Amino acid sequence: MATPIEAVRWSPDGRAVRIIDQRLLPGEYVERDLRTLDEVVEAIQTLAVRGAPAIGICGAMGLVVCATKHESMDADAFRAALAGDALTIREARPTAVNLSWAVDRLMNVARAVDGPPAAVLSALHDEATRVLDEDRAMCRAIGEHGAALLAEGSRVLTHCNAGALATGGIGAALAPVYVAVERGRRIAVFADETRPLLQGSRLTAWELARAGIPVTVLTDNMAASVMRDGSIDLCIVGADRIAANGDVANKIGTYGVAVLAKHHGIPFYVAAPSSTIDLATATGAGIVIEQRPSHEVTRPFGTPTAPDGASVHNPAFDVTPAELVTAIITERGIHRAPYNFAR
Ligand code: MRU
Repeated sequence: MATPIEAVRWSPDGRAVRIIDQRLLPGEYVERDLRTLDEVVEAIQTLAVRGAPAIGICGAMGLVVCATKHESMDADAFRAALAGDALTIREARPTAVNLSWAVDRLMNVARAVDGPPAAVLSALHDEATRVLDEDRAMCRAIGEHGAALLAEGSRVLTHCNAGALATGGIGAALAPVYVAVERGRRIAVFADETRPLLQGSRLTAWELARAGIPVTVLTDNMAASVMRDGSIDLCIVGADRIAANGDVANKIGTYGVAVLAKHHGIPFYVAAPSSTIDLATATGAGIVIEQRPSHEVTRPFGTPTAPDGASVHNPAFDVTPAELVTAIITERGIHRAPYNFAR
């Protein structure tokens, strides 16, 4: 068994956030330590660290690392600097609710501590560690619940990367696959390459191959034909934000996969920790979709693929309406419509 992937963790001295630099995979495996506000924000915005749960964990730990630099300030100045850093990290990416959820969780802890900066920092460090540990446990539970959906020989199509690289544990969409394989079932995964940044071919295929799980990379435009020829039994994808009605924001192209699955009568599951559910957002219409720079489409990885000056539409995510989702797998179990996540 391969050693577990740790996408985000404390550095050994506990003074930095250690990430796997996902921009370099699959060519190079490099870990980086984030020690400043600029480094944390840049890592999140450039997708060095990515995936909704992982950016939440990185935001929480990153806030602690940044706040440590303000420790010698008086209490009021410390709290003002902490609030400024929290706002900057919170706004680094808008769609995944896990980022604002994790930063807000730390700020609530800071407000509850009536003491000097050192006491606030100690409480924040403990809380950020809890965010990581809880995510690891939620991933495992998602895997246990979701594995029940996978029979011997199941062929799963996934989009983007919602695996270990995207979380603090064994992933969300890939967690059921890892658990089913642990239990001795043979599972095959079809990974959409996921234009324009190729998280499916670069990251999902990398982590599955590393674990010895059969994976076939598809360019995004092949999903329809593999569904029609009977090669796919079910789809499982992750989520960046799930609205109260079950609408799901996830990587651009997810909606298309859901439409295709519906047409071909293939179950379409979403797997996510409950930290991805946003009860304050009633429907997908209220989810802010991040727009990414045009060069990701015109010069992906430095190679020109469209003429300079061509206009580009580059939303990072889309919204899949709840009616296309067969069920949502969280650490609490398998939820089916009508959703009542508040229970
Ligand atoms: O832009 P990215 O790579 O951060 O997008 C990631 C996704 O869309 C994932 O599917 C989602 O965050 C779920 S990760 C468990």
